[in-house]
Amino acid sequence: MFKTNYLVIGSGVAGLTFAVKIAEQFKNKTITIVTKANEDESNTKYAQGGVAVVLDAKEDSFQKHINDTLLAGDGLCNEAVVEMVIKEGPKRLKELIDWGANFDSNAQGKLDLGKEGGHSEYRVVHHKDITGYEIERALLQRVHQLPNVTLLTHHFAIDLITEHHLKISNTHNLCCYGAYVLDQKKGKVKTIKADTTVLASGGIGRVYGHTTNPIIATGDGIAMAYRAKAQIKDMEFIQFHPTALYDTKEESSFLISEAVRGFGAYLRNKEGYRFMLDYDNRAELASRDIVSQGIDNELKKSGNTHVFLDCTHLDIKNFKSHFPNIYKKCLTHHINIEKDWIPVVPASHYLCGGIVVDNKGRTSISNLYACGECSRTGLHGANRLASNSLLEALVYAHNIYKHLVKNPPKSTQNIIPEWNDKGTIIPKEHVLIQHNLKQLQALMRDYAGIVRSNNRLTKVIERLDLIYSEVDELYRESKVNTALCELRNMINISHLIISQSRQRKENRGGYYNIDNEANTASVNT
Ligand code: FAD
Ligand code: SIN
Repeated sequence: MFKTNYLVIGSGVAGLTFAVKIAEQFKNKTITIVTKANEDESNTKYAQGGVAVVLDAKEDSFQKHINDTLLAGDGLCNEAVVEMVIKEGPKRLKELIDWGANFDSNAQGKLDLGKEGGHSEYRVVHHKDITGYEIERALLQRVHQLPNVTLLTHHFAIDLITEHHLKISNTHNLCCYGAYVLDQKKGKVKTIKADTTVLASGGIGRVYGHTTNPIIATGDGIAMAYRAKAQIKDMEFIQFHPTALYDTKEESSFLISEAVRGFGAYLRNKEGYRFMLDYDNRAELASRDIVSQGIDNELKKSGNTHVFLDCTHLDIKNFKSHFPNIYKKCLTHHINIEKDWIPVVPASHYLCGGIVVDNKGRTSISNLYACGECSRTGLHGANRLASNSLLEALVYAHNIYKHLVKNPPKSTQNIIPEWNDKGTIIPKEHVLIQHNLKQLQALMRDYAGIVRSNNRLTKVIERLDLIYSEVDELYRESKVNTALCELRNMINISHLIISQSRQRKENRGGYYNIDNEANTASVNT
């Protein structure tokens, strides 16, 4: 048994920000971060565009950012949450800068502000086109300076510990006592007992196979919370980013940042036609749901596999200075953006829903908190406004910290059983895991993607049930390993996406079902 005061699951912007704050406040308390890959591997590391914050008092205002967020969220945002997050933005950004994160400045020495889809003003603070990499670097550096933080890499959280494991038949006031965590290098499961557990385990992109997310994004935290009976909501609102580099070979699709469209790039079909003008008067800078659905429609009409992003009319010197990483990546694909159009296609990018939390980051289970992409705060509604995610993670990590300072957790005396894998064996047939994973990803792409239908949602649930039975049997008889646990989690996530999609009877933001067309109540149109 391993004991800690605060257990943090995940080392992206959300988990690290919380860990830094709580460790600085309570120097006599222990903070343990478990993370399933290298310490920096996370969606955070790949964030490009930046952090949306209102800094330009002349042109911009909190109210404009609030309006843009509400419009993108298509009528389903929680307005009080939107206001709170946006007004907190400047303070949280300053903190990040104080911890050593560097952001680009303009000729006047002020922070340079970019623009992205759905934003009415320039307000995206960035570090070239590798903003997330810089934030992750700065936060990890700070974490390593704090003696009361232990960062356990290659440690995979399998399940949360609740009354269920204590054999207490209490389905009402559930409480979290920590987590069972697999030390991936040793193959041993550790029981980590914690007074407070914070889920900061990120998104679910891999469920769709074709995604901008790295391989860690398998929805583990949401699946764990779901199995522990926490409330999960808005799982039907998957955000597909309109412009992932079209490439059939790579496992993760490289993102061509929305900031490139903010810089003036045009979307064209194969014939060169600028089709987004037909869909929305903001054209390429409409919110993501509209641009992705527009591209999807163009591809379905033409039978083509991708559309193009045209940067050839832009100031190339300036482009290279803003987007050096994108420029280089395109060259490695033999695309010279000075004369070639970039082939792009939508890819799953972000989950707007997740574990329901209040504005203090509390889940429906006592002593269990969630922040970052795994949480559902009410900020994004049916569709997230670009660059509001890093902002949300910073604000909610802070809110959890603030709440815990005022309400310090008490240690519980409960006896936690160790992980019991008696009678299980090391699985010999990894092919079953790989095969089921490929099947699951293909099903989710084809049956629960950008545009859905009642028929496809009914069919996919039947097929998912078959995969579930096979994998559940394998899980029960096997000693746990990461690939098997991730697959089990992705099946839970797929089930949540499909069942919550079936419950939604009108199209909103990122959710589009052809059988709901009569009930499309978009505030965007
Ligand atoms: P993550 O950064 O994903 O961190 C999750 C952590 O949990 C990881 O360390 C992971 O290894 C760990 N973990 C997961 N499961 C387990 C487990 N079972 N056990 C132990 N550890 C586990 N948002 C913006 O606001 N602006 C942008 O410009 C932007 N650009 C983006 C570009 C790309 C390519 C992508 C993919 C996303 C982008 N986003 C952007 C979204 C944003 O990056 C993420 O939503 C945000 O970084 C999520 O942070 P997080 O801390 O919640 O999760
Ligand atoms: C991008 O740079 O296009 C991604 C921004 C985001 O997901 O918020």
